[in-house]
Amino acid sequence: MSELVLLDVSDGIALVTLNRPDKLNALNFAVLTELKAAFAAIAADPAVRAVVLRGAGEKAFVAGADIAELAALSPIQARDFSRHGQQMMRGIEMLGKPVVAMIRGYALGGGMELAMCCHLRIAADNAKVGQPEINLGVLPGFGGTQRLIRLAGQGAALELCLLGAPIGAQRAYELGLLTRVVPAAELEETTFALAAQLAASAPQALRGILEAVLVGGECGIEAGLDYETQAFAVCTSTNDMREGTRAFLERRKPVFRGD
Ligand code: COA
Repeated sequence: MSELVLLDVSDGIALVTLNRPDKLNALNFAVLTELKAAFAAIAADPAVRAVVLRGAGEKAFVAGADIAELAALSPIQARDFSRHGQQMMRGIEMLGKPVVAMIRGYALGGGMELAMCCHLRIAADNAKVGQPEINLGVLPGFGGTQRLIRLAGQGAALELCLLGAPIGAQRAYELGLLTRVVPAAELEETTFALAAQLAASAPQALRGILEAVLVGGECGIEAGLDYETQAFAVCTSTNDMREGTRAFLERRKPVFRGD
């Protein structure tokens, strides 16, 4: 992995760090490419059962797409930049393993879009999130308009995108954009405790939940229920489900090995 994106795997958890703190981890084309590569490596590594995504430094998760790069794009390059970001983020969303965004400081523009493609978002109480693209004369281009609607509804999506003002962590939590808000000093501990819980859970069941919610949830109810049934049935063929049910009956903690 390059210097722009760091990847460390330990105890079943992959820690992905966007490493451009001098530019508040702004997303340029190279960062998008490195992130895509990091998540491809994670997808291929069965030892990874949960992911934490964070920005380096104290000031920002990610302060958005790289405005210097954005300013010089032709319409065709802008289309490619948007598609590149969208595909990378959709890849994170569809990873099949849970991804937790750990948000300290700013998560703006592409940073908020990146956080929204993660499955859980844990933020420090000093975090500021939003879609300020309108202030640059542009709109979100990495899926923000679509994921905002799905997470927080049309009203919040329009407010955040049309007005462009960042909001605090508490308001974002109330809108359904954040999973938890914790004191800044407790951010790492809370995030890694949740990641450890996910890494110890049955991977096939986690995958089934992600697929039923993220894919099934986009279809009509009949097709969505079908997704759920398929995922449910697949779990019954795993040793993990045998272990989970047996452990319950034997009144002990299950050990899910991922098979
Ligand atoms: N793209 C490129 N560079 C960025 C950036 C971005 N989205 N956000 C911050 N930076 C750079 C700054 O240019 C500055 O670089 P420099 O030190 O070489 O001049 C550095 O990161 C630190 O940012 P700075 O603006 O000095 O920090 P601040 O604490 O005064 O303000 C923000 C922080 C987040 C309020 C401010 O940086 C900002 O508004 N960023 C843009 C947010 C945005 O519009 N995002 C959507 C982009 S589509």
